[in-house]
Amino acid sequence: MTQTKNAVVTGGASGMGLEMARCIIERGGRVLIADMDDKALAKAAKDLGDSAVTQKADVSKPGDIETLAEKAFDELVHVDLVFANAGLQFDAPVIEATPEEFDLQYGTNVKGSWMTARAFARRWIDRSEEGRICFTGSEHSLGFQHDGAALYTGTKHAILGLADVMRREMPENVGVSVFCPGLVNTGFYASREKAGLDEDDEALKDGEKLMSMGMPAAKAARAAVEGALMGEWLIMTHAVAREGAEARWEEIDDAFRRQAPPGSDDSNYKVQELKKQISAGG
Ligand SMILES: NC(=O)c1ccc[n+]([C@@H]2O[C@H](COP(=O)([O-])OP(=O)(O)OC[C@H]3O[C@@H](n4cnc5c(N)ncnc54)[C@H](O)[C@@H]3O)[C@@H](O)[C@H]2O)c1
Repeated sequence: MTQTKNAVVTGGASGMGLEMARCIIERGGRVLIADMDDKALAKAAKDLGDSAVTQKADVSKPGDIETLAEKAFDELVHVDLVFANAGLQFDAPVIEATPEEFDLQYGTNVKGSWMTARAFARRWIDRSEEGRICFTGSEHSLGFQHDGAALYTGTKHAILGLADVMRREMPENVGVSVFCPGLVNTGFYASREKAGLDEDDEALKDGEKLMSMGMPAAKAARAAVEGALMGEWLIMTHAVAREGAEARWEEIDDAFRRQAPPGSDDSNYKVQELKKQISAGG
């Protein structure tokens, strides 16, 4: 890939999405930013200038995603990269969380990312064009956890799982990346308020304070863009998140060693191979 690429960025009106768009433009590309927040979109359009077009879209709505994909190919002609980045997070402890909060986080983060990936991958395949989808996961995708974020953590694990299977299913012309940042300084703390749910001032203040301690959004976004351009599968930004990934692996390793050590029947249960055997009539 050369470095001048066009991109679509969902959740592109603020935070890391806006900085991903800026990074693409600095490299000579054009962007379509999509977001459900039209005020932020208008502000971002002014900020980014002529190389950006905008589209109001709620990524949890299938119709909005199809409209977005059509507009992207009309406006940009070549869509090289798609950042499925729109997301929201608010703390919702497991036993206090409501089904509405669950649907909101999964509908946006998981269903929205899947529908975005599907819409663009289908078009790249139909057109025999190269493209790459970069999902925004999180350090939460890897096992670096904190209390209160169970719903959100589930969504970011789901994104990693979905992307992992997608990369196996795709033909060579469609690449898949997962960007896994840790704490980044954005307006993410206001997700709950933005989604129209009640939020108390104290929680907003604490959230703002926490986010302000994060990595600059431009730095994290640059890593995402550069990683996607390099064709990386996983894109990491925060070395500290490795602690969670290592602790997760140690638990898995320990459980395997004690409960399911390598055994004589192991090779009998490789699902992918069994499926191949069945489809070959075996
Ligand atoms: N900030 C962090 O510490 C952090 C860490 C890891 C991962 N992330 C992920 O980064 C991504 C971007 O978040 P951010 O930190 O830049 O926050 P942000 O709130 O600044 O940006 C998120 C954007 O997504 C938009 N959005 C929300 N729901 C949408 C929907 N249904 N349809 C379309 N747009 C929608 C918002 O309006 C907003 O502009 C998210 O996926 C988030 O989960 C953030």
